[in-house]
Amino acid sequence: MKTIGVLTSGGDSPGMNSAIRSVVRTCAHYDKKCIGIVRGFSGLIENNTKILNTRSVRGIINRGGTFLYSARCEEFKTKAGRSQAHENLKKAEIDGLIVIGGDGSFTGAMLLEKEFGFPVVGIPGTIDNDLFGTTHTLGYDTALNTVMDAIDKIRDTAISHHRLFLVEVMGADAGYIALNSGLAIGAQEILIPEVNMSFDNLINSLKTSKKSGKTSSIIVVAEGDKTGKNVFDLASKIEDTLPRYETRVSVLGHIQRGGSPTCFDRVLGTQLGVRAVESLIENNHGLMIGINSGKITFTPLNKAIKGKTKINKELLRMSKIMNT
Ligand code: F6P
Repeated sequence: MKTIGVLTSGGDSPGMNSAIRSVVRTCAHYDKKCIGIVRGFSGLIENNTKILNTRSVRGIINRGGTFLYSARCEEFKTKAGRSQAHENLKKAEIDGLIVIGGDGSFTGAMLLEKEFGFPVVGIPGTIDNDLFGTTHTLGYDTALNTVMDAIDKIRDTAISHHRLFLVEVMGADAGYIALNSGLAIGAQEILIPEVNMSFDNLINSLKTSKKSGKTSSIIVVAEGDKTGKNVFDLASKIEDTLPRYETRVSVLGHIQRGGSPTCFDRVLGTQLGVRAVESLIENNHGLMIGINSGKITFTPLNKAIKGKTKINKELLRMSKIMNT
């Protein structure tokens, strides 16, 4: 293992830069060459690479986004695209690849390893926190704090106007961001795809809260939740059923993917980067490096994508206790 490649792929997440910096500097520590691939798998197909040394990654640990840029690459889903990428890896004399991304990126990484026997290691980088084998993905903690700050501000205006706000947060098919931010901001209800609370129960909860004297409320809705067709449809159904509620919708959107990473994500990126390089050097690949209770974990890529992490439903129960 003389040369290691690194790329970021799929939706960017705060902390990716910390992981890139860590990979580059760990390569230098072990006297390995490090090549950065620009714009994920697209850059691999287009042969868009640059040599990285310790100085190339100065001043990036505190920056959101990804210094190597990212892309969602349709071409890499085809065998022809992957063959081209493999050819370019060989030409650049890259011996192992570190892929920082989410489940889509890991699916591509797995195929590279399976079809061409090319050594790949994954670092979980997604705000969604939806990978099995790690309690935290890079960017999740920062996204939670961004959501919390945003909803704290929404609460100010909700209180002033006696309004009900439905706040939609990201998470793809998972409810991690909604559940944890919802608890942190004191949501009246938290709607997540993993638990169907039903429209009727939601209405009962709002009626009860009104009776108890509440004049404003926040409902946090995960983007994957199916209580309404979408958050706007849900808001209008609530207004039809409870006309006395003045309802507003706020979709937080891509603000959740940006910003300077929290201390947690910077430290996590550093840890995962070091162990990813060391894994490749130790000839340990086809796996994702994660973290659980402060300890580094190694999970086969297929398990990381397909394994089901159970959302902590106990938090939902506690959220309800807080809102009685
Ligand atoms: O996977 C990260 C994520 O931000 C999801 O939470 C969201 O559903 C999706 O990406 C949005 O993707 P795009 O930026 O391509 O619209």
